[in-house]
Amino acid sequence: MQCSPVAALILSNSKAVRKCNRNWNAVLPARDKSAPNNANRAIWRTNTACPKLIRSVKTAATSAHSKILILDFGSQYTQVIARRIRELQVYSEIVRFETPAAEIARLKPKGLILSGGPASVYDKGAPQLDPEIFSLGIPVLGICYGMQLMAHHLGGQVEFSARREYGPGMLHVTNSSQLFDGIGEQIDIWSSHGDKITALPAGFRAAARTENSPFAAIEDPQRKLYALQFHPEVSHTPRGKEILQNFVYHICRCTMDWTMGSFIEEACARIREQVGDQKVVLGLSGGVDSSVTAALLHRAIGDQLTCIFVNNGLLRSREEEIVQRVFGENFHVRLKYVDASQRFLALLKGVTDPETKRKIIGNEFIKVFQEATEELLEEDRRKSARQLVAANPSGGGHGGYKFLAQGTLYPDVIESVSIEGNPAQVIKSHHNVGGLPEKMHFELVEPVRQLFKDEVRQAGLQLGLPKEIVYRQPFPGPGLAVRILGEVTPERLSILREADTIVVSEMESSDWYYRVWQSFAVLLPVRSVGVMGDQRTYENTVVLRIVESQDGMTADWVRLPYELLARISARISNEVKGVNRVCYDVSSKPPSTIEWE
Ligand code: XMP
Repeated sequence: MQCSPVAALILSNSKAVRKCNRNWNAVLPARDKSAPNNANRAIWRTNTACPKLIRSVKTAATSAHSKILILDFGSQYTQVIARRIRELQVYSEIVRFETPAAEIARLKPKGLILSGGPASVYDKGAPQLDPEIFSLGIPVLGICYGMQLMAHHLGGQVEFSARREYGPGMLHVTNSSQLFDGIGEQIDIWSSHGDKITALPAGFRAAARTENSPFAAIEDPQRKLYALQFHPEVSHTPRGKEILQNFVYHICRCTMDWTMGSFIEEACARIREQVGDQKVVLGLSGGVDSSVTAALLHRAIGDQLTCIFVNNGLLRSREEEIVQRVFGENFHVRLKYVDASQRFLALLKGVTDPETKRKIIGNEFIKVFQEATEELLEEDRRKSARQLVAANPSGGGHGGYKFLAQGTLYPDVIESVSIEGNPAQVIKSHHNVGGLPEKMHFELVEPVRQLFKDEVRQAGLQLGLPKEIVYRQPFPGPGLAVRILGEVTPERLSILREADTIVVSEMESSDWYYRVWQSFAVLLPVRSVGVMGDQRTYENTVVLRIVESQDGMTADWVRLPYELLARISARISNEVKGVNRVCYDVSSKPPSTIEWE
């Protein structure tokens, strides 16, 4: 989820995103007593976060690049597969599991990967594929459920296994398969499956076994069909990358043509083609996604882009300065700065309910953005009228903003469909803030919608954005309002800003800032007794929230060194007037959320 204030508000308008977020929310598990300790946490997280979802994009793009298509059967790891392939500098895209063979042929992929998934091939309603894909002559690699589906469709036998294979195992390579070229006879693997293959389809042979299964890897090299019962894409299969490499380079014969340089060039060409000589407006928040989008658009269309930066009064210390310096001064992007802080703070006066705060901020943002765009139009009208009058005293001029740019990322455009009809549930309303583009009749420009977050960062660096922007931590759209529990007042904002500045500076100077997902302070509506010098104090409480996460969907608190915690705590209580107690939040998500409201 994109976390910059502007982009998040706009972004949540897309139906796909709303659906995706609702579904993710709906399936987040309640407190899981079987949650393992830290070592296995990464695996536990990805397995429990979204148990029954099928995610896929509506349309895949045709492009000149070598391309691998991934048919998504709902695995937690589908996106990981796509990223692994892109790490090999080969473009990959996720498509719906039932994409017809004719459509796949039209997209001209060099290879197909069938992802894993939570279903059993014999389940009623289990996701099925178009069996014609096996006759296209395109190499196919089935993983886990993808393997079982391949065997099932091609005449093999898949059976429920009483002994579930879950977690680490040892793979013994039994046949010289191109898939295992250069890998040796034995490797560590990671599996997660119940069903297994008991009879091979005609033409197939076993390529590797585990203790539990003689058919841990199977293949029909003549038809270029390959399948694995384990997950080569996860880091717990350390040689998995080489297996994928063998498939992608040697079996599919892909070329390594997916690089950031080529992406930027092509993205600029696409932007110019879409936009022509029209004007584009972009809500810049200072977050990495909207910043990279701005830099990319600026490279593509220069002054046709205008960014609007709204100060809602809920920003971190000096945030508006940083954004104006980077974009206005260094990049020379046309930037309209709108200081609407008083408007927001007036509306938040006396409000303590978290959802009400969020709704007020979301609605007001839309109004401010709309007004700012109208002001821009007026400024442009005046300017072009002056120019036209000078050039042609009888003419008039008007240039509208036809396009709205936003930093939608690839994970945001992947459509989520609940295969068990999980009821939708709202956890926080940022996932459902309504309709800027619809209201304002903009056409969207989303130049980074093909990219994963780490790729957006690479693009940002290549475009010359500073590290402080490219690697900054996510910051919620409603800003510090959701980190101040209770009423948001100028005094309480100032306490939180000072505490937050200390957290950030200590995290940076100890080199922890870039190692965690987020690190920030929260101000509680709780006062407690303390002692300073000989004086009794009765002051505020600050909580430190420092978490690690892959995507913000699940998170764990960071085991920071005690010395660092002690330093942050001492500095806050000594330097921030009005605070005499600092606590550390040791809750994971779920059951807590990252932000406190
Ligand atoms: P929660 O609190 O839901 O946060 O666990 C997950 C991630 O989302 C960020 N977040 C937001 N991002 N607008 C955003 O753009 C919002 O309203 C919002 N609320 C939470 C949060 O900082 C974390 O990274």
